[in-house]
Amino acid sequence: MASVLRPRTALPRLGASTTSPSLRRIASPFSALPYTQAQRRHVSGPYGYTQSKSLLFSSFGEPTDVLSLHTHSISPSLPSGSVLLRTLAAPVNPADVNTIQGTYGVKPPFTPHLLGAPQPSVIPGNEACFEVTAIGPNVSGFSRGDWVIPASTGFGTFRTHALVENAEKSLFNITSGDPSKKDGLTPVQVATVSVNPCSAYRMLKDYVDLVKLSIESYQKGNDVTGGAWFLQNGANSGVGRAAIQLGKLWGLRSINIIRERSTPEQTESLKQELRDLGATVVFTETEFLDRSFRDRLAELTNQGKEPIMLGMNCVGGKSASAVVKALSQKGVMVTYGGMSRQSFPFPTGPQIFKRLRFEGFWLSPWGNENPAEKKKTIEEVLQLMREKKFQEAPVQEVTWDWDTEEKTLKEAVQGTLEGFRSGKGVFVFGET
Ligand SMILES: NC(=O)c1ccc[n+]([C@@H]2O[C@H](COP(=O)([O-])OP(=O)(O)OC[C@H]3O[C@@H](n4cnc5c(N)ncnc54)[C@H](OP(=O)(O)O)[C@@H]3O)[C@@H](O)[C@H]2O)c1
Repeated sequence: MASVLRPRTALPRLGASTTSPSLRRIASPFSALPYTQAQRRHVSGPYGYTQSKSLLFSSFGEPTDVLSLHTHSISPSLPSGSVLLRTLAAPVNPADVNTIQGTYGVKPPFTPHLLGAPQPSVIPGNEACFEVTAIGPNVSGFSRGDWVIPASTGFGTFRTHALVENAEKSLFNITSGDPSKKDGLTPVQVATVSVNPCSAYRMLKDYVDLVKLSIESYQKGNDVTGGAWFLQNGANSGVGRAAIQLGKLWGLRSINIIRERSTPEQTESLKQELRDLGATVVFTETEFLDRSFRDRLAELTNQGKEPIMLGMNCVGGKSASAVVKALSQKGVMVTYGGMSRQSFPFPTGPQIFKRLRFEGFWLSPWGNENPAEKKKTIEEVLQLMREKKFQEAPVQEVTWDWDTEEKTLKEAVQGTLEGFRSGKGVFVFGET
């Protein structure tokens, strides 16, 4: 969790129910100071106090049961080394919901007096695009108006503002005083770059050198029909869509597995959407699990001469077992999610006779161990976005204004694990 300071104020906290819109918009006594666009947009209380709202939870459970919306005020005199941020966009990822449920790989500590909350609490959310609205003493490398993202997971992003200590370590600055670095980017793109695209990038690069494999295979010149293959289930997920696009940019070929939609037309339309993104072939789970898939695979891989060395699994269960079957000799299966909530056996035969390797990928520790590499990966994907070579996954925007009701925000979080969505839920912050 990024350092989250308690309200340093003797003023009464301005609760949502008691704060009138006019009070929230009282001009700051610091209005004689140069006034940036960023400053103008945040809701001020008396004496320049920023009025802020956060979703919090104090026990594990379903988001609609345990989340609550908490209002607090942030002093205009920022502590040394800190910056004040206003949230522009924050996605709700499956891991955020699992964290609230208490089923994720790491359980966050409940912090006493967090933002003055009555119970020890946690602010959920790992990803966001924030705008720097004020800078405390002894901070370098930040300008007002900069767009920044959390440097590591566990930041707590479901809130309108964040006062962040140790800003230089806690944040990646996307613009660093150069507003032209926002050109070609939206807050939603910046808010969603650090988890899914970053995970897809690392999984495609760090387990099998597929680019090298492609080159070697072309150099051998034995009727090779394309770049190296990888195979993934959950191909319609944010990670899956990122892998499709990065794979295509790097000259790789992808076999993509999706779940069937309600009608054949809808299924075909989704397949086409993924092919348009760069997928080489797309199959439904049913086609993938059918016996005939073996023949289809033989055709695609030039009777196995163009092997499938990497399988990416975010589903588990039968789908994962089918990935194992499809992998070639010495192939690697990387599991990074379990959307079906079903595990799968590590079958003895393929492990021995195909000499397969089974790996697990988890971005959080990877990012903590490789912060510079993570930043580089993010910057590379953002540059691809600026150049319109990489599309973010579809999103369902949930507007979070000052007056947005707690129920709306909680339901948006709860809906994340429902399948067959038209896009990932993203809080987009308006008048806050
Ligand atoms: N290990 C890591 O570091 C890491 C990093 C990033 C993401 N992840 C994991 O990767 C997975 C995808 O995350 P995301 O943010 O990319 O997802 P997302 O964009 O929110 O989409 C969720 C995906 O899961 C699929 N899905 C849901 N229930 C399913 C089920 N019962 N069987 C099969 N597929 C199902 C959905 O398929 P439909 O399109 O058919 O609805 C959808 O494509 C999650 O498990 C997430 O926790 C892990």
